[in-house]
Amino acid sequence: MFSIKRIKDDLIWVGANDRRLAMFEGVYSVPFGVSYNSYILLDEKTVLFDTVDKAVRQRFEENVAEALGTRTLDYLVIQHMEPDHTAAIKDVITKYPEAKVVCNVKTLEMIGQFFEYDIGARALIVKENDTLDTGRHKLNFIMAPMVHWPEVMVTYDSTDKILFSADAFGCFGALNGAIFADEVDFEKDYMNEARRYYANIVGKYGDQAEALLKKCSAFQIEMICPLHGFAWRNHIGSFMSKYMLWSNYAPEDYGVMIAYATVYGNTENAAEILSAKLRDRGIKTQMFDVSVTPASDVVAAAFRWSHLVFASTTYNAGIFVTMEALISDLTAHNIQNRTVAIIENGSWAPTSGGLIREQMEKCKNMNILENTVSIRSGLKQAQLAELESMADAIAETLPATGKNKKIEEDSVKMDSIDSKALNKLSYGLFVLTAKDGEKDNGCIINTVTQIANPPLRISIAANKANYTCGMILKTGEFNVYILSESAPFRIFQQFGFRSGKDTEKFADSSYDVRAANGIRYVPEHTNSVICAKVAESSDQGSHILFVADVTQAFVLSDERSVTYQYYFDNIKPKPQPQKEEKKGFVCKICGYVLEGEKLPEDFVCPLCKHGASDFEPM
Ligand code: FEO
Repeated sequence: MFSIKRIKDDLIWVGANDRRLAMFEGVYSVPFGVSYNSYILLDEKTVLFDTVDKAVRQRFEENVAEALGTRTLDYLVIQHMEPDHTAAIKDVITKYPEAKVVCNVKTLEMIGQFFEYDIGARALIVKENDTLDTGRHKLNFIMAPMVHWPEVMVTYDSTDKILFSADAFGCFGALNGAIFADEVDFEKDYMNEARRYYANIVGKYGDQAEALLKKCSAFQIEMICPLHGFAWRNHIGSFMSKYMLWSNYAPEDYGVMIAYATVYGNTENAAEILSAKLRDRGIKTQMFDVSVTPASDVVAAAFRWSHLVFASTTYNAGIFVTMEALISDLTAHNIQNRTVAIIENGSWAPTSGGLIREQMEKCKNMNILENTVSIRSGLKQAQLAELESMADAIAETLPATGKNKKIEEDSVKMDSIDSKALNKLSYGLFVLTAKDGEKDNGCIINTVTQIANPPLRISIAANKANYTCGMILKTGEFNVYILSESAPFRIFQQFGFRSGKDTEKFADSSYDVRAANGIRYVPEHTNSVICAKVAESSDQGSHILFVADVTQAFVLSDERSVTYQYYFDNIKPKPQPQKEEKKGFVCKICGYVLEGEKLPEDFVCPLCKHGASDFEPM
């Protein structure tokens, strides 16, 4: 029996979940299952985005038939050729012989590699920025090589502002009846699975993921539909900012991942003691026994934390086997920009520390602490001081936290003002709008307070430099609409980062909605609207304080109001670490990057085997 989910009136999820798969790609455990997503767009022409894994072909076939109803399929878009998304291509093209297959040249080549059948005349080959009109919708094809394979492309539906993102923004875990990330507690239940998915599947290709993010920043994105995991319609900015960190190999959290490999528990003992000493300094730690924790969890944690400690016994004159595998996994996934500390153990010839150091030195921008703690069989009391020093050295490279923070008494002067203290007040963030003749305008403010009832009065403070403030002084009327937590960063850019004197703030808005006073508001990402008439105003220096009678107020949704703190934590993109300006050449076919000033004429791409003519400067 079919099991589909309607995403929009004309967009249906026709994928399926698999909770029996032991190892995704034969290597990554998926204890919460995995979803294979596929989507059908029912426009004047019908479009199927990708197919599914062979494990769920039957359900998929039923889903596609149900979603299409009496209609046939006009287009199959193949964004990614990995078999977990292409196992049902043959079923689809056999059942819908009129359907065109939309793909790029590289995909066509791979179809030939994987399958015996010939797409031939049915192929509609697309390249960067090509478009396909399907009636109401316009699909734009964007190449995303090496996110995660060389042929990957994504599709932007510029009509409904949906990004069909292939492997990008994916997540492990079955959907369990939901389809949108905001239907579950994503942060608590799925963020680690999203991080584990990114780090292990795409982690190696940070430059390519970053290039895709840059391309995407040119689009207004209101929904993301990936090939695995939930679709996104809210908090898109917040999830994208995770991607910005991950693709830059920038840590998400200050803290220490301690990965240890132990045979009889002595190396574990040293790791535990170090962890306790770090905790005493108020530093967060996360410990893994790498012999029992799947490597994919440890790799994901390494992408999360700022500091990595490796503690390993020596085995066969080398690094213990499970630690060796982890180190090799981390270097293969391009881990960089971390502070590293090393503990080694060896009863007669400890070598693991030096070998780990050698491997870590090959990674970019690693700060490897000089002193390795070297244990002979078991830690001795005299060596506690060495772990103490290691904990100190780690603490010195972290911003002061918790107990580690030594507050100098005279550093807090009674007459000093730290504006950040005021940010702790639970300010909201609101759009203030006004109308003067034919001119509509709006700006972001953070102070709206109900001050009386009756009469029902509010006060707002508007910066004198804001054009909207002048309009209210002139007209005596305004609207305030309360933004909800789903508000994307672009709204703050639209109303907060430019002046209405020289721009039309509502130019990009698809809504022309006005309250009874004729002043505009935007109903999306807004939970309520308050309209008011000025009763008094006073000059407060930089701002005008308006006291106003409420003339109309209405609620649009139950979504939580965005606070100033929430905006900083979840919506405003975090500053990115400065990246060294790289010089080099990128393969147009697969995205391989050759760093350096010169591209040898006879250079051959080690990934896709194309020659120098297929490279372009970065
Ligand atoms: Fe599920 Fe790279 O594909």
